[in-house]
Amino acid sequence: MAKLTVEDLDLQGKRVFLRADLNVPLADGRVADDTRLVAVLPTLAHCLKAGASVILASHLGRPKGKPDPTYSLAPVAHRLEELLGQPVPLAPDSVGEAVEAQARQLEPGQLLLLENLRFHPGEEANDAAFAQALARLGDCYVNDAFGAAHRAHASIDAITRYLSPAAAGLLMCRELEALGRILGRPERPLVAILGGAKVSDKLALVQSLLDRVDTLLVGGGMAFTFLGALGHGVGRSLVEPERIELARQVMAEANRRGVHLGLPVDAVVAEGPESGEGRAVGIREIPAHLMGLDIGPLTVARFTHALSGAKTVVWNGPMGVFEKPPFAQGTLGLARAIAGCGAFSVVGGGDTAAAIKQAGVAEKIGYVSTAGGAFIEFLEGRTLPGVAALGERS
Ligand code: 3PG
Repeated sequence: MAKLTVEDLDLQGKRVFLRADLNVPLADGRVADDTRLVAVLPTLAHCLKAGASVILASHLGRPKGKPDPTYSLAPVAHRLEELLGQPVPLAPDSVGEAVEAQARQLEPGQLLLLENLRFHPGEEANDAAFAQALARLGDCYVNDAFGAAHRAHASIDAITRYLSPAAAGLLMCRELEALGRILGRPERPLVAILGGAKVSDKLALVQSLLDRVDTLLVGGGMAFTFLGALGHGVGRSLVEPERIELARQVMAEANRRGVHLGLPVDAVVAEGPESGEGRAVGIREIPAHLMGLDIGPLTVARFTHALSGAKTVVWNGPMGVFEKPPFAQGTLGLARAIAGCGAFSVVGGGDTAAAIKQAGVAEKIGYVSTAGGAFIEFLEGRTLPGVAALGERS
């Protein structure tokens, strides 16, 4: 790791400003999935045990730069308290004199959670004054928010100009190491699987992966734009007409580079995602009034076969509308195939990680990233502001 890490810092008696990605789904005022909270526990424990106090900061949702109780971090404080077994007081704000006083009063081993950073417009604006106000709360800076590292926001980027050293947290290190294995020198064959609704969200990723992979398997809604480009009638399936030409170019490029590009050979079709059931048909036989909502069993078998012998696998995006039981089997089948193929696998994206959990195979996956957008941008080969801003190891 070229970057400074939290393990390089002398934390005794220090106040650590810890930026985490605690942007978790809520339901009925409670945390509905605490994966991201559990993921930051090792860094928290490390700091608290090393004799530091921690000022923990995060965004939650997109509250548009002003306080909105719907996006309060109170449920997060509550769940963290349960997970840590110690009090997690929630500050009334993320900056200001009262919060500074609260931060100053912390004893080693104590923690203060700041209220949602995005209650201030300065956060997303990467505003210098807001970053300085945050910087006043700590003696050093640790970023464990890999999931938000693609955002050049004040608590991620600008703050590092006013608070140093700026080091990577343990989760940040694990993410960079696991995802780095895809971009670095992966053991081959390297197979990438992409799904999700739209090609337009993944074009840069497809292009970057074509440079690196031996096989690219495409499923989910985005596959229909590729199938459309091949001239198949796809009924009412999701096709992005303005991307058809690009899909054609991607297929030609894959061909030129000797990358095997696998597309669905069958699909589970229905009138819409709310239909109570679907049926599998060959990819050339999708009725005009129906839409493909999952890959079919033949495609699962083909993709499973394409995974045999793979040494490294990376997966992002579900194969269909898997949150609806009639359209879940493709995604779940693929999750099981990845888990069983013996390769080092890296999986990212909120939906994809949820599918891995639902399939009950999380233990057999090499690394399940906590990131969505940042996972994609990293694999696109882009420099993430949250990583670039960290100090270098001397
Ligand atoms: C995420 O959930 O991907 C991160 O927390 C970033 O959230 P954002 O897309 O609202 O910036």
